Amino acid sequence: MPLKMDRITALVNEINQGLDDLRSGDVPTRVKLAQAAFKLNKALEDPREELIKSWLLDSTTKTVVMVALDIKLFRLLGTSPDEARSSTELAEATGAQKSLLSRLLKHLAAVSFIEETGPDKYYAGELAQLLGHQHMQDGLCHVQWMEKSLGALPAYLAEKNYQEPTDGLDCPAHKVFNTKLHMFEYIARDPQLARGFKAAVLSHEGLRRAHWATPAFYPTQERLLTGLKEDSVLLVDVGGGMGLDLLDLHHATGEQSNARLVLQDTEHILSSTDDLPPRIEKITHDFFTPQPIQGARAYYFHRVFHDWSDEKSREILLALKPAMTPGYSRVLIHDTVIPAQGAAPVSTMADLVMMCGLAGRERTEQDFTELLESVGMKVTGIYSRAPGEESVVEALLPE
Ligand SMILES: C[S@@+](CC[C@H](N)C(=O)[O-])C[C@H]1O[C@@H](n2cnc3c(N)ncnc32)[C@H](O)[C@@H]1O
Repeated sequence: MPLKMDRITALVNEINQGLDDLRSGDVPTRVKLAQAAFKLNKALEDPREELIKSWLLDSTTKTVVMVALDIKLFRLLGTSPDEARSSTELAEATGAQKSLLSRLLKHLAAVSFIEETGPDKYYAGELAQLLGHQHMQDGLCHVQWMEKSLGALPAYLAEKNYQEPTDGLDCPAHKVFNTKLHMFEYIARDPQLARGFKAAVLSHEGLRRAHWATPAFYPTQERLLTGLKEDSVLLVDVGGGMGLDLLDLHHATGEQSNARLVLQDTEHILSSTDDLPPRIEKITHDFFTPQPIQGARAYYFHRVFHDWSDEKSREILLALKPAMTPGYSRVLIHDTVIPAQGAAPVSTMADLVMMCGLAGRERTEQDFTELLESVGMKVTGIYSRAPGEESVVEALLPE
């Protein structure tokens, strides 16, 4: 198979050119280089080998990781080269057969989950150390929920004549979990899944979230604080989970500020947010019902719209609209914005996961514009920290 030398050279050059910015800690560069390195890896592979590998490698790793978790292997490995342990020591500590362990360890080292310091000597790399923590193991439970939902997609689509799911009560996930409940309710009723959702989605340790309320991302000073009316709430975080984004704004606006911040979510979620500062007011609110806070400067939705179809998203916006002051209140939708070309794999992955579990979707700029215009709102800006990362779509109700 001839090597794609032009493509390989271009990608190597792109990576080389970004190294100085990378050293200075520039986040957009890191994201861009990670994408270039991903493409470089694909360009260097033999396509036949790559096809088989992309199918089987991840499954093999996941399987081995599950066995490792069952025998608590990651917690037994040291965390530095001088704490490296052998399969004999690990066999004694776990009770697993030494020859079996040495095969599992070799695979984990091959895929960089653990580090190898010499023949049969291993310690936990970054990934294994992360997996040694209980909250990451809880989070895996949510990832497995997503994976199972995705697995049902082929049969679901064949049955539905290849029409995308649009009903949150009838998704591929409903086939696997054999329920008629919306997945948010299904998850909330199962203590293990509920813990997994909180760990993977709502906590600091879960899915990475950028500090959104900073000038490098969304200019809160110019867009929200300048012109803030004295009697209005600064920001309502609708479906705001544990309030992490509000905490970000609380710090960004100065902890002494008395501009009001409101966290809204279901009772089930709000009841586990005990450690928020008193400035953050908590109000149980179903976002399909009329918004009780009138004329706030901003209504903020992070990873909310991607959970819902266009029809349901319109319902959420229409329930909010009467509370907005035209020309003043802003809607901030913090979600992935998929580019018209060259989407990052993590964005398309999230799109399909949302499709299978919730009949939700990640959206393009055009999708957001059409959605917001369909309820009489107008997009006034799209802000992001780096290409391929989540963006804040800002909209208002024209006067
Ligand atoms: C993907 S999570 C995002 C949470 C939060 N914005 C964040 O970024 O961490 C979606 C949130 O929407 C909440 N939610 C779902 N349905 C809701 C409803 N009808 N009314 C209010 N909140 C709801 C969930 O409880 C969950 O906290």
